[in-house]
Amino acid sequence: MAIEEKLQELTSMRDKARLGGGEKRIESQHRKGKFTARERINMLLDEGSFEEFDMFVSHRCIDFGLQGQDYLSDGVVTGYGTIDGRLVYVFSQDFTIFGGSLSEMYAMKICKVMDKAMKVGAPIIGINDSGGARIQEGVKSLGGYAEIFERNILASGVIPQISAIFGPCAGGAVYSPALTDFTIMTQGTSYMFVTGPKVVKTVTGETVTEEELGGAAVHGSKSGVAHFVADDEQEGILLIRKILSYLPQNNLEDPPVSPCDDPIDRLDDALNSIVPDNPNKPYDIKDVIHSIVDYNEFVEVHRHYAPNIIIGFARFNGQPVGIVANQPNYLAGVLDINSSRKAARFVRFCDAFNIPIVTLVDVPGFLPGTAQEYGGIIINGAKLLYAYGEATVPKVTVILRKAYGGAYDVMSSKHLRGDINYAWPTAEIAVMGPKGAIEILHNKELKDITDDKERVEFLKQKEEEYRNKFASPYVAAKYGYIDDVIEPRNTRFRIIRALQSLATKKDVNPPKKHSNIPL
Ligand code: HXC
Repeated sequence: MAIEEKLQELTSMRDKARLGGGEKRIESQHRKGKFTARERINMLLDEGSFEEFDMFVSHRCIDFGLQGQDYLSDGVVTGYGTIDGRLVYVFSQDFTIFGGSLSEMYAMKICKVMDKAMKVGAPIIGINDSGGARIQEGVKSLGGYAEIFERNILASGVIPQISAIFGPCAGGAVYSPALTDFTIMTQGTSYMFVTGPKVVKTVTGETVTEEELGGAAVHGSKSGVAHFVADDEQEGILLIRKILSYLPQNNLEDPPVSPCDDPIDRLDDALNSIVPDNPNKPYDIKDVIHSIVDYNEFVEVHRHYAPNIIIGFARFNGQPVGIVANQPNYLAGVLDINSSRKAARFVRFCDAFNIPIVTLVDVPGFLPGTAQEYGGIIINGAKLLYAYGEATVPKVTVILRKAYGGAYDVMSSKHLRGDINYAWPTAEIAVMGPKGAIEILHNKELKDITDDKERVEFLKQKEEEYRNKFASPYVAAKYGYIDDVIEPRNTRFRIIRALQSLATKKDVNPPKKHSNIPL
């Protein structure tokens, strides 16, 4: 064969591979409001940067009539490229080929890019759109999944791993995204479940739709499986690009510092009066976050899940940080099972990837009740405590209002190696809130007061005494638990100075095989 013919053969094979499962199936994909595997990669990566691997791979199965039914690339597109000029590895499942189902060779392709990403220390992004294990391949497919899971586990905490779910993701296939750092789902076109509606109906008798069982709304708000819910694939892809802009390439690097024109000493007078005089009145902690961070830009993670705690990424003078903040606007910002788990995983992510943590505290304590105790608030609250105590990245804390009881300890207190701990003058740091404390401290006297008016007056007076003594930052400041009491409007500047002073921080944990976090 002359070289011209050989080149022509190459071109035609490439064209064939790029057609995936064929025009008809591509049209069907588009009709569902979905993009194809390659279109998604092109949207995700910098223009022209994609280098594809294993385009000519096809399956080796001869069972169930699959012999001769070959599609080049075998249902997953893999390779590398750049996002904002930084290297990433990617795999994108192609639903047009056998419903994106996973075969032995398909798993091999994914494992290859995961191994490469680990070797060079670059993030891996997986776009999921698949009918699960390729039924015809049986156990080979199951083995393939487990090979991917093992790599997800070994890569955890070494390189950032991001999963997008842009179609079905069912059965054991859900465990790869679950092992990665962030999962993004699209509204209306994606779903995730371990067992589908038919099996659910048979086993439990429940009738549910795919959307009700495992749609983006469910996983974004009820289960917390999805960290982000995007309206469509374009938004999902922009989110991936955005998240990566806050992250280092791997755990040995620092996150990238961006140029910043937002003045570091920008004051916001509104912050001086944002905390209401009435301690039971809520306010939106996101107003505080937006006010103090660069360009008011905050990328919220888990927006709809456990909204009594807010987590996400922002920058201070260009330095990426993870923000953890109690939200007085929802359940008074109380710590419960879900909020503790949510924040704990985020704190550990930030710590693994050298991202400083800024914690804003306004927490009345842990949520009481049988539902919480039976559900394991002890073990789940301990997760957050553990995560903060274990974290060695710079930790800057600001107590805005309440820091009561165990929740004071948990929320990045000085005692858990908090590096710089500030409080606003409105801070109330105490074992418990005034009401509960008075009921306990004056239990006997209260029993003797039968007149209601007298009782109210007594309570008011004792609460005031208690509030004057404990509900301020100055007792904690007296013991050095608070490094300074700062003017709210100057919070941005003080946090930036704190972060600058901690830029070269080194802290280590004792050597061990691994820790035993209360799971
Ligand atoms: C082989 C599959 C397939 C699979 C779909 N296809 N799933 N081929 N193995 N798992 C093929 C279909 O035969 C069809 O081929 C094409 O993909 C598109 O599928 P449709 O059913 O026409 O598409 P749609 O109506 O959109 O439905 C999509 C779907 C459905 C909901 C995903 O296909 C489905 O339920 N598939 C089976 C899902 C499943 O049970 N998977 C196994 C889960 S257990 P043609 O030629 O007509 O285009 C599992 C274990 C993993 O994954 C364990 C890991 C530890």
